Amino acid sequence: MPKSSTQYVCQQCGSATPKWQGQCPQCGTWNSLVETAVMAKTGRGLGSKPGRVKTPIKLSQIKGKVLTRINTGISELDRVLGGGIVPGSVILLAGEPGIGKSTLITQLSLKIAKDSVYVCGEESPEQIKLRIDRLKGTDLSKRSVPALSFLPETDTDSAIASVASLTPAPSLIIVDSIQTMFTADLTGMAGSVGQIRESAYRWQRLAKEQGMTVILVGHVTKEGAIAGPKVLEHLVDTVLYLEGDKHHSFRILRGQKNRFGSVDEVGVFLMTDKGLEEVANPSDIFLEERQTNVAGSAIAVVMEGTRPMLVEIQALVIPSQLAVPRRVGSGIDMRRLQLLVAVLSKRLKLPLATYDVYVNVAGGLNLKEPAADLAICMAITSSFRNKATGPKTAVFGEVGLLGEVRRVGFADQRIKEAKKLGYSQIISPATSKNLSTLIK
Ligand code: TYD
Ligand code: MG
Repeated sequence: MPKSSTQYVCQQCGSATPKWQGQCPQCGTWNSLVETAVMAKTGRGLGSKPGRVKTPIKLSQIKGKVLTRINTGISELDRVLGGGIVPGSVILLAGEPGIGKSTLITQLSLKIAKDSVYVCGEESPEQIKLRIDRLKGTDLSKRSVPALSFLPETDTDSAIASVASLTPAPSLIIVDSIQTMFTADLTGMAGSVGQIRESAYRWQRLAKEQGMTVILVGHVTKEGAIAGPKVLEHLVDTVLYLEGDKHHSFRILRGQKNRFGSVDEVGVFLMTDKGLEEVANPSDIFLEERQTNVAGSAIAVVMEGTRPMLVEIQALVIPSQLAVPRRVGSGIDMRRLQLLVAVLSKRLKLPLATYDVYVNVAGGLNLKEPAADLAICMAITSSFRNKATGPKTAVFGEVGLLGEVRRVGFADQRIKEAKKLGYSQIISPATSKNLSTLIK
């Protein structure tokens, strides 16, 4: 390989400078220069000889390959992956620090019956061993533990060379985390955009050249994506996000991109003292602590991917002491809450302008679906009127600005799930066209 040097390339306009600067000298954007490795010139300039000549392959000449996926032994994970891991693919597992990425990946490496190498840049093998002991008490001997080995290394090139020299070649490589990996070809610190991108690119090349599956673990921060996995999304085949609220034990694994499956599926887990447990019926747990006969509660039927779930929405409406009354929502979008309060004030003539409104989604779930609108309105109305909703009532539907209830997708699945869990009265766009049903 030719010797490489580095340049600082603006992510906005693409101009390059030899030194780092706070502002791009070309386009003036701040903080847009990222260190990038440049290969030495191959001497193929304008007017010189063309590169290799290749004949394009005809579609009819391409032989279809049957994808044999590797079963991970964790069915919620398999579901999100679209039926298992595709050999030779690169998967990015992203999430906030402390959400459970290492836990999930350790559980996976124990269950999978393949030779795997855990490149640990964050923790020592001893620390991971402690976690493994915690995850499963005794029956480890029966599992494929001997097939799992550890490589404490943060230098990407050494790690790749070590992995590539193994015989037999491991079929699964876990890199935890990509933020700790660096290459000496760049001068930037581990965790900088340039280092993350270059390291990930080198792992990806290993995966494609040697047919190994690589799982990269990446941290995201609340502020977002700058030095995080966002810069890698185009490099990898599959992006999985592990989400949840740290103060609750629910974790949702969501596919953000999947070259080998749909991104509609979600996996649901519960963080316990023995690691992440799979949850086959999330509604059961969301509704576990529900109190019936208390005003201010409504059951919403929401979809997570293609899975219907029943969640409790709680509202508290009390007279306000403030000139501008409070609107506080947890688990729902604030602007959506303000909009629904405005619709309720206008269409149902509720004098909410002098009341504080608090809304909470029980269980720590984050609702982004407008289908929860009707349930939110119902919980608010119920608290305001101090009248409990029926214990067997489940609700879904989007609420429009005119107070109309609008149709949402997957109505049949929602109704089926609600009925399955014993909710006999279902208020949906099919049964009520208007918000006024809520005050009946
Ligand atoms: P971890 O997987 O280390 O998070 P990440 O790799 O995403 O940074 O998990 C962190 C949290 O999970 C930690 O606060 C402890 C908790 N935890 C459990 O509750 N039960 C367990 O069995 C394990 C292993 C961790
Ligand atoms: Mg970790």
